[in-house]
Amino acid sequence: YSLTKLNTFGLTAAAEYFVVIESLEQLRECIANPQLRTMPWWILGGGSNVVLPDLVHGLVLQVSLRGKDLVAEDDKAWYVRAGAGENWHKFVQWTLGQGWGGLENLSLIPGTVGASPVQNIGAYGVEIKDVFHELQAINLKTGELHTFAHHDCRFSYRDSVFKQEEAGVWCIISVVFRLSKNHQVKTSYGDIEQALLELGLEKTPSNVAQAVITVRQRKLPDPAEIGNAGSYFKNPIIPTTQAVTLKRQYPEVVMYSVDAQSTKLAAGWLIEQAGWKGRELGVVGMFARQALVMVNHGGAIQDDVIRLENKIKDEINQKFGVSIEAEPIKWE
Ligand code: EPU
Repeated sequence: YSLTKLNTFGLTAAAEYFVVIESLEQLRECIANPQLRTMPWWILGGGSNVVLPDLVHGLVLQVSLRGKDLVAEDDKAWYVRAGAGENWHKFVQWTLGQGWGGLENLSLIPGTVGASPVQNIGAYGVEIKDVFHELQAINLKTGELHTFAHHDCRFSYRDSVFKQEEAGVWCIISVVFRLSKNHQVKTSYGDIEQALLELGLEKTPSNVAQAVITVRQRKLPDPAEIGNAGSYFKNPIIPTTQAVTLKRQYPEVVMYSVDAQSTKLAAGWLIEQAGWKGRELGVVGMFARQALVMVNHGGAIQDDVIRLENKIKDEINQKFGVSIEAEPIKWE
């Protein structure tokens, strides 16, 4: 079963077995099926954060669970739930249309609602963890339904338990977000303030979404036109002592303070300095307008991606003494 059109990177890939999950009953049937239980399982959402091999061994489940509703409301917040298979951006737009702010900075991120907590998606100074309330997931071995509260997910920068010790254990069914009634828009990050000015827009949640969309469209490639999985590398977090030394050597290095001990570097800057912005290796390359994004110029497979990843990692390590890590998840 071809997965080439089901991953935004457009990597040539196929699954041995494939099923679309549209209901909880259907998922339970799969879990109870003794034949299916003998093989590895892979959960696919919007396919925007995965690096797929030519052939995925086992069963790929594409989660298409739908639904969005207001589950509760108090004087402080709206609690809004969405099915794991809902398109992330459409869900964000829907909440804004209802007059509920909070998700606007996360506009236009590719992928599904169910995938959003896995890597704690983030952009323009907001991460899922800032608005997350709880999620429901089903245990793929036992079929048990479980609710994960905020602290159970152990969110950190582009990370959660679902990418670490609980990887492969759960299938996320739905996510509940807590959208504050006292929400203040956040426009200080990146070019958002500037974009609002250019567009002549006031600081409302819907207008901030408009500004974010404008900025993203300027910098990031549209997966419908050029295959990519968003940022290919995470911004590395290094000891502040090392950052100070680096700054002495490279005064223009772009960095953000995390806490007293640690500092985050802009990996896009490191990659650009290493000469990889807009440069290609075979059919893949680093995007000309944002060096952090790897792009598929057509017909790439997992090996092409890994080859470029390793080359860039090595060069960054040699030049700056910094290790960088890939952000998307590699399937086998
Ligand atoms: N920079 C360069 N050259 C480049 C790219 C970036 O010098 O080619 C420097 C610039 O100084 C720029 C700074 O790096 O000001 C930061 O760049 P940008 O604002 O584009 O953000 P980023 O750190 O590269 C992160 C997220 C993005 C998110 C943006 C905006 C990660 C791995 N990536 O990128 O998320 O949209 O911030 O908030 O944290 C994603 O995860 O897929 C993603 C697109």
